[in-house]
Parts: sequence; structure tokens; C-alpha cells
Amino acid sequence: MSSQSNKTVTITDNTTGKQIKLPVLKGTDGPGTIDIRSLYKELGYFTFDPGFMSTASCDSKITFIDGGEGRLSYRGYPIEQLAGNSTYDEVCYLLLYGELPKTTQLLSYTNSIKEHKLLDEKMRRFFLGFRHDAHPMAMMVASVGALAAFYHEEVDVHDPVSRELAAHRLIAKMPTIASWCYKFALGQPFNYPNLDLDYTADFLHMLYSMPGRLRKPTPTIVRAMDLILILHADHEQNASTSTVRLTGSSEASPFAALSAGIGSLWGPAHGGANEAVIVMLKEIVASGKDLSHYIARAKDKDDRFRLMGFGHRVYKNYDPRAKIIRQICHDLLDELGDDNPNKPLLKIAMDLEKIALEDKYFIKRKLYPNVDFYSGIIFQAIGIPVSMFTVIFALSRTVGWLTHWMEMMSDPEARIGRPRQLYTGYTERDYLDINKR
Ligand code: SDX
Repeated sequence: MSSQSNKTVTITDNTTGKQIKLPVLKGTDGPGTIDIRSLYKELGYFTFDPGFMSTASCDSKITFIDGGEGRLSYRGYPIEQLAGNSTYDEVCYLLLYGELPKTTQLLSYTNSIKEHKLLDEKMRRFFLGFRHDAHPMAMMVASVGALAAFYHEEVDVHDPVSRELAAHRLIAKMPTIASWCYKFALGQPFNYPNLDLDYTADFLHMLYSMPGRLRKPTPTIVRAMDLILILHADHEQNASTSTVRLTGSSEASPFAALSAGIGSLWGPAHGGANEAVIVMLKEIVASGKDLSHYIARAKDKDDRFRLMGFGHRVYKNYDPRAKIIRQICHDLLDELGDDNPNKPLLKIAMDLEKIALEDKYFIKRKLYPNVDFYSGIIFQAIGIPVSMFTVIFALSRTVGWLTHWMEMMSDPEARIGRPRQLYTGYTERDYLDINKR
């Protein structure tokens, strides 16, 4: 829980002269927060903050971001150290339980995950109901929500053991669901988990294997995917995590809450940006137009075009994940050789990055490449279709969403989220019979 500082702020209502002192709550890192919970009762005003640009919706111990310095840590460990030393399995344990696991703890966790990787066989028929060209994110939103139909009776959101089981089930089943979305889109047979493989290698197996041909991706590809899963695992109170918290605050099923979060992540302004980056780069390559044309469009207020993969609500410095993933991108494409069809895309991306970082419009607005700018190129380079990019982002962020859901549900002070509004519509008026309108 945050602690009271000895600081307060005073608000004076200059129409009534009434003054109130509001306590400043301080955390362990980052700015303090003004506790405004008594404001409406004392002064009769709500606060107004569309987009929650300056609003802390909760206090949390999970992830910290310093947007000005470009810092990101999970449970206090800097993302650079986790990316350099850890695995996605270990990061999942760290996020869920708050500490890096001992060997026995990690083994117990990974064994529990392996127990729950299969989907009920009836889910195959569920998938067969989709149109042949269904977007994988639409299938993922629906499939995760449908899991509530298989486990609804078993989940008691007020019981920590039941919450942990639901979390393990979801973390375990997401690679199976993600791979089935991919295989359905290709018209290929679904693969089942291979419990002899670790989490990330098994996901790649389910993505790429065909009957009679077990695909063993190179260690570079497994490591690249594992790093991408680590880098996307959590990111504080972003739009999709806030969606999961708000949905879960009504005591809804965690499967329903995650389905809502996946829907929010799908948006191109959020997790859908990695797909939008590739679509943008391909459009630029195909147009043959100079990059300056696109830079000009990105600056044009009358043009909805934005440079996908640039800018961030919180980072007003380089996204630390982008720095890490940029190197992976280069290493992977060096390994894949010059004839890799993605080389032109990476060259355009590098040129775009260089121009944007030197352009005063972007510099003034502190618009830097974010994690999505490079992740799309890596996925493209390892043969994952564009429509699957955000599916993999959702797979990775599942642990973050569940950790926030568990943190909220274990908080005795947690209550249903219900924001208020500034009403600017009609004041009360009388109904008019249709003949008099
Ligand atoms: C993710 O929250 C998270 O943590 C998200 C995420 C996570 O891990 O969960 O990090 C993942 O969502 C990363 C962001 C991916 N989205 C994109 O790459 C899409 C492109 N980016 C923009 O849509 C935008 O930058 C946002 C949505 C990311 C942030 O928008 P904000 O904070 O609301 O900023 P804004 O729209 O108020 O922009 C401020 C100014 C505006 O210009 P002015 O009105 O001041 O003249 O910057 C401009 C914007 O027009 N601007 C851009 C731009 N992004 C902002 N101009 C051109 N290209 C862009 N990409």
C-alpha cells in the first residue's frame, strides 16, 4: 500500500472561499499522488482527466515505468537485466509471485503450466465455426472468452488458490490458442503441446510443425521469441491492463476479463501497432515515394496518418524495450542473410528512425520508436504473418494482465471501478408527443 507523506496540497474554492487539504501519497519510485477521494464529498467537484493522462487508478507493486528516463522494471528488476539473463518462464514466476524463483520453485511452476496446456477437444469445433479468413485476434478474443464456458463453475474470484489455478490455466493455454489461430488461418492441422519442450520452444513447435515433420526452430529464433515475450510481459496500467482491471473489478470471470483486455490490445493505437508498422512499411516500399512524403503526412493535422511504432503515452524518451529489441532485429536479420525478403523493410525502418530522430516535429513532441516498431520486423523475419503479431503480444501480456487482476482481487480495499463524468448534454426537458415535434 502507498504511504502517507507529511505533504499535503490545499485547494481553495474561490467562489465559496472553502479550503481543503488533501494528503499526498508517496510510493517507492516515481511521482507522488494527491489523494482526492474526499474531494467530491468536501468540495462537491469531480476531477476531469480524459485519457487518464494524470490519474493513478490504483497502487501497484508489479511494474514501474519512468517515461522521462526511459526506465522499465518488473518487481524492481530492470528490463535490461531480465532480457539479458532471464527466460519468459522465470519472468512469469517473478511477475506472479513477486520474487525470482529458486530452482525447485521454477520447476514446480513449469510443471503446473505443462499440466494445463491442452484445450478441451470441443474447442476444435469452436474454431471450425469461424470464417476461413477470420482475423486471428478475433479468434483469440472469442476463444479466451469461451474458456469461461469450460471453467465458470470452478473459478471463485475471492479464493487465492482458485485465482492462481485460473492464472496457470490461461498462461498455459494461450500458446495453444495462439497456434490454433495461426493454423486455422493457414488451413493446416492443429498441433498439440509437446511437453518435452520448454514454453517458448513448444509454442514455436505448435506454430510451425506439420504432421510427420516436427520443426525445430534455431536457438536464435527461440531466443528472439523468448526475449519478445519477456519484453511484452507487462507494462503497468496501459489501456488493455486497465481494461482487465475494470472488467475484473465487477467480480467477472478472469477469462471474460482477459477477453476484454485482448480486445483493447487489438487497437492500432495500442498493441495492434506492431501489425500497423509492417502494413505502413510495406505501403511505403510499394509506393516508391520518398520517405519525406510520409514524414510530412505524419505531421499534417488534417491527415489521420501517423508513424506507426512511434510515440508513447508514457515514454518521452527511447522505449527501453525498443533499444533491446533493435539489437535482436539486427542480429536476426544478419543470421537470415541478405536475400531475406525483409531486408528492404528493415532498411526503410532504419531510414525512418534516423529521419524521425532528427526532425524537430518529433524531437519537440518526444516521439521515439516504441517496442512495436521493431517487433513487427522480427516477426516478419521469422515468417510469422502480420495478422499474428498482436496475437503474440497478447500471449506475452497474459501474465501481466493476470498479475494485475490477482493484485486487485487480493486487495481488501478493491471495489468496482465506476468513473464519473462532466455532463454537457441537455438539461431536463419535457417529452413532446410526436405530433408536436
Ligand atoms: C503500445 O501504454 C502502454 O504502455 C502501451 C504499450 C504496452 O506495452 O502496453 O507500450 C504498447 O501501445 C505502444 C504504442 C503503440 N502505438 C503506436 O505506435 C501508434 C502510433 N503512436 C500514436 O498513436 C501515439 O503516439 C500514442 C497513441 C502511442 C500515444 O498518443 P498520446 O500519448 O495520446 O499522444 P498524443 O496523441 O496526444 O500526441 C501528442 C502529439 C500530437 O501532436 P500535437 O497535437 O501536439 O501537434 O504527438 C503527435 C500527436 O499528433 N503524435 C504523432 C504520433 N504520436 C503522437 N505524430 C505522428 N506520428 C505519431 N506516431
